[in-house]
Parts: sequence; structure tokens; C-alpha cells
Amino acid sequence: MPLDNPFASGPSSMSWSCNVKKTYTICCLPGDCIGPEIMAEGKKVLAAVGKRFGCAFECNDALIGGAAIDATGTALPDETLEAARASDAVLLAAVGGPKWDTTDPAAPRPEQGLLKIRKELGLYTNLRPVQIFSALAGASTLKPEVIDGVDMMIVRELTGGLYFGVRERFYDEEGAGTDGKPGQRAYDTLEYREYEIERIARQAFEAARKRRGKVASVDKANVLETSRMWREIVHRVHDADYADVELEDVLVDNAAMQLINRPADFDVVVTENMFGDILSDEAAQITGSLGMLASASLGDGVALFEPSHGSAPDIAGKGIANPLAQILSVEMMLRYSLDMGDAADAIRAAVTAVLDDGLRTRDIADASTPADKILGTAAMGDAVVARLQ
Ligand code: IPM
Ligand code: MG
Repeated sequence: MPLDNPFASGPSSMSWSCNVKKTYTICCLPGDCIGPEIMAEGKKVLAAVGKRFGCAFECNDALIGGAAIDATGTALPDETLEAARASDAVLLAAVGGPKWDTTDPAAPRPEQGLLKIRKELGLYTNLRPVQIFSALAGASTLKPEVIDGVDMMIVRELTGGLYFGVRERFYDEEGAGTDGKPGQRAYDTLEYREYEIERIARQAFEAARKRRGKVASVDKANVLETSRMWREIVHRVHDADYADVELEDVLVDNAAMQLINRPADFDVVVTENMFGDILSDEAAQITGSLGMLASASLGDGVALFEPSHGSAPDIAGKGIANPLAQILSVEMMLRYSLDMGDAADAIRAAVTAVLDDGLRTRDIADASTPADKILGTAAMGDAVVARLQ
């Protein structure tokens, strides 16, 4: 299938093998803008992992987002979904861009591709680790003593709530303006079912047990009925099966404040879809380097891994995007889907070494970074690969 994307590079299907013990099939979704550029670096790192750990990765590209809209008229073609279902894991780069921005409810949007693949694959758990690489501690806008020790895991519910509720936009008399003509109205609905809350709560408590044993459950129980139900169910699951885990309830507005005020206190933060979307961007900014953060979306079958950042249209095609979040998404993929914890550790160590050596892409460089240490996208990928070998 042709990749109708000006920044697409390399063959759309490749595989590596060396002392092969096992071959994994990876469905790669480069998407839009910087997506193909950073995906190329993720594949490079996979190839290096294959060589070092004696396995093979067959990477098959498929279309999603704006690239898919251009080629097929829809943001998630059926072939992409089939390819994803048939793979061992899905690696996504980023979707969206000004070319496809529209407020017309009838027009396709790149983000629909992402939402649909999450729903279709049942990816209800979104893990967003927020960690500081010590070499980048100066990149945060917060004081060093505030961010010292920040290491949290945001567990965002990903297939319910406002994102998937009934919504509508229409004209009627009630929406009328001063001219008396019918005006527009719109609504979105926020709905949760008991089992959806129960299963995400379990994921959060399980994650906490492998970490520092603390969960902050974020809701708006002083206003929303869904949040009151959320709080009740989270506590019921806690009291029945996870009483060893420390649980606190935090109202979402207060959570937005506490994340800046005492970020190092948070261990696992569990919350519903929309709150998680907003708070995870805020938490990412605490590190000062959104270009470094990866995420995993897990369900009961094949899982999806992607950077936490977007498609960065402003720097697309320039070869300067930071590929490290993509590379760290490969790390999460090896850890959570392919049971290759050693290889995942090796990637993390290689990225840490690159940063400790002072190498930077522009987004994580500062005034003190020497010009020869500022690398483009491909050179940064090469630097990680060099430390993996
Ligand atoms: C994210 C993104 C998506 C979301 C968009 C692109 C639909 O912001 O993964 O956080 O809102 O979930
Ligand atoms: Mg978001």
C-alpha cells in the first residue's frame, strides 16, 4: 500500500534477523507530520535490539490519521485494523496536522483514527509514565527541589467517558440568537459503567504494588454523578483486594494544582479519560521535556505504544524532531507486550547514556549545549543504536 505522505522514508515493510529465536510482527503506524521521521528511528532501534538479543522484528507499515484520510477518505481503514489485530504489538508515532483541522462535524479528522483503534482493540488502560532523566533536570520550569524525585505513572481510562459518549450538534429554537432564528446546540455525554471503573482501578492498584504502593484517584465527586460512582467503586475494589495500597481521593481541580505543588509525592494517578488527557499533558510538562515521554495502551489483546507528544506540524520534514519518546515507546512495547524486559532495560540504559553524554535534540537543548552536541532526528537515533550494540 503506498504511503501518501511527503515525509515517508524507507521501505514500508522490512524485517531483520540474526541468530533468530523468535520473530515478532509489529504493526507500525507512522501517521502524520513528524510521525514518519520518528518512526524511522524507532525501527532502527528495533533492528539493533533484534541483533543484540537474537530475535527478529517484522515491521509492517499501515495507514492512520491524516495520511489515511488522504489515501482512503477515512482515518482508520479496515486493512489497518486487520493488520493491527494480526500483529504482536502496534507501534504508533503521531496523528494530526493543520491540513486536516476542521470543525465540520461531517468531515473526517485524523484523531478519529486513534480513538477508533483504541476502542476496536479494547485498549482501556493507558499508562503514561512521567519521569525525569537526571541529565535533563534543568529543563523543567519548576524549581529543582520541587521536581527532585518525580516518578509517577498516570493510569488513564481510555475507552469510556466523554470521548465515546453520545454527542450531537443541531439547530433549534432554544439555540436562537437575538434575531429569533433557530440557533445551534450541541451536547456530549459522560457515561461510565461499573465494570469499566472496576477494571481500571485494578490496573492502578496492580501498578502501585510494583511501585511505591500509592494511588491517587482523581475525580470530580463534588459535582458529577459519574465521579461519585467512580469514587465508590475505586474504594470498594481497594478495600476488598488492595488494602495494602495507600489510596487518596483528589478532586481534579485540586489535582491540577497539587501536580505542580508536590509532583514527587504522586506515585500512581488513576483517572477517567478526559481528566487523564488533561492531567497527563500537565504532568509531562513538569519534566520540561514532553519529547521524552512514552505511553502504552493496553487491553486484553494486542497493545499499542506511542509517544505522549503530538505530531508537531511546525517542525515536520525538517529532520529535527526528538525521536526519544518514540524509542522509549519501543522500550515499553518490549516490556509490556513482548516479554523482553532485558531488551527494554538496554534501551533505557542507551537513552540515559546518550543524555549523560550531553547529546540533545533542539527541544531538550539549552543555552549551554555546545552546537556539536545538538543532533537531528536520525543522528539521535544513531546515537542510541551505537550505545545499544
Ligand atoms: C492523547 C491525545 C489524544 C487524546 C487526541 C490526539 C485524540 O491528546 O493521546 O492524549 O485526546 O486522547
Ligand atoms: Mg492528550
